[in-house]
Amino acid sequence: MKSKTIATSLLLALGSLFYSSIASSAVDADAAQALAKKEGCLKCHGIDKPKEAKSFKEIASKLKGKDADAKLLEHLTTGPKVKLQDGSEEDHKMLKTKDKAEIDNLIAWLRAQAK
Ligand code: HEC
Repeated sequence: MKSKTIATSLLLALGSLFYSSIASSAVDADAAQALAKKEGCLKCHGIDKPKEAKSFKEIASKLKGKDADAKLLEHLTTGPKVKLQDGSEEDHKMLKTKDKAEIDNLIAWLRAQAK
């Protein structure tokens, strides 16, 4: 009787571990898009189509397999100089949010746009 209870609670614990690792690795696309909109990213970047800047699809495809997470994080937190379609240059927008989970989710979503 006792060992069955222990086995059951072990199974339950394993189950919730498994569940939470899935939940934290899945991209929440709606939240990422809402953040991109709130931060003003979509004014310059279309998801599939270029605007003032390249589309996220093109950017993600270019960065594929090249340490994309680190590059994206650096790009979005250091404000490097970029050239707009009209040839003018400006410092790239930096993320206003400092919420690590929100930033990680945005980066995972950006990476997932690759062709
Ligand atoms: C004022 C316009 C503008 C805004 C707003 C903007 N970007 Fe950009 N972004 C650019 C330009 C210009 C480039 C340079 C590449 C290009 O020509 O598209 C760029 C490049 C990038 C890159 C490519 C980095 C690389 O290593 O090649 C990423 C990723 C990116 N932007 C994401 C974002 C995100 C996320 C936001 C919102 C926080 C954002 N951008 C807001 C204009 C903008």
